[in-house]
Amino acid sequence: MNRRAFLASTVLGLSEGRASVAQQTPEIDLREVAKRKNLLVGSACSFRELQWPEFTQLLAEEASIVVPENEMKWQAIHPAPDRYDFRRGDALVAFAQAHGQLVRGHNLCWHEANPAWLLQTATPQNAAQLLTDHIATVAGHYAGKIHSWDVVNEAIHVEDGLPGGLRSSLWYRLLGARYIDLAYQAARRADPHALLTYNDYDLEQDSPQHELKRRAVLGLLRSMRERNVPIDALGLQSHLHASLQPYRWRGLHRFLDEVEGLQLQVFVTELDVDDTALPSDERERDRLVARLYREYLHNVLRHRAVKAVLTWGLCDRDSWLNWRQRRPDRLPRRPLPFDAELRPTPAYFAMREEISRAPSRTPWHPPAAG
Ligand code: XIL
Repeated sequence: MNRRAFLASTVLGLSEGRASVAQQTPEIDLREVAKRKNLLVGSACSFRELQWPEFTQLLAEEASIVVPENEMKWQAIHPAPDRYDFRRGDALVAFAQAHGQLVRGHNLCWHEANPAWLLQTATPQNAAQLLTDHIATVAGHYAGKIHSWDVVNEAIHVEDGLPGGLRSSLWYRLLGARYIDLAYQAARRADPHALLTYNDYDLEQDSPQHELKRRAVLGLLRSMRERNVPIDALGLQSHLHASLQPYRWRGLHRFLDEVEGLQLQVFVTELDVDDTALPSDERERDRLVARLYREYLHNVLRHRAVKAVLTWGLCDRDSWLNWRQRRPDRLPRRPLPFDAELRPTPAYFAMREEISRAPSRTPWHPPAAG
């Protein structure tokens, strides 16, 4: 049985004997379901995965938008002060163009994945030049080919105790809060057609820590708007943690109402579910992971500002969560819509069902001119 036939036979209630979406339209995949709602859907992809034919076939079928997992980060794309290496980023852009997909750029300014040379040579005197030259070169190289850039990634870390909840990152220590404005202005100059996104994690769930972070991010977005710093979108990374208790999402709704009030688009940029707190049993784990996918998407997609949903990887085999610390029972985690053998997991069907039930939205739109 090929994958499409398999999908068609498993989806939406076939086993319960009622007519399913897939029976009516057996070819249906995530990309198509999302398109009907004017929603982009896709995932991060590594250069290594691009060499795997079964994977790329799946990615081409399922995704209308892709993002390089690491290949456009400073360390990868700017390996020496006077050398840029665009080969791996270009490979993903070429793949996407060949398959009618959009590309997110990730990322231009972060406290991680910085090359050793940068840490050794950056000073308060040369930092603004280093940052804006890098952005001009990288965003300039891809100008016209990028749907949205994560310009600044993860600038908030309330625990650091700085004003506005800013993170004590390399760029903050060198330049203070103004590094953020510099980065967005440089990105707009280099590629006026890309949506400029602020991307961060721990903004989704019901905990005092997430609530504090939501407030700080909102403060940052508001002040950027007030200062006329060019920004078009918020990226909710959405690295979720499954637990046995369902979440309520009240804080998320309030937050997204405010973000919508700032006229920003919203992208779910790095969705995955960490199952570390769940029992070993695979079926039970899959059920609870899928439940969280379902609940989260059900809630987040009620907000029409949400124009894209990307998972952080497509299949469990390559998830970053499986390259980090093991689960206590040493079993691999199952955080993504496809398992290690590229079979759809219950999370896949949860995604597809929630997207097919979501309210239709107006399509994403490029930055307003000027
Ligand atoms: C992760 C990658 O998945 C790993 O391969 C890499 O070793 C570290 O970075 N937030 C982000 C992503 O914005 O860039 C991170 O990606 C995951 C957390």
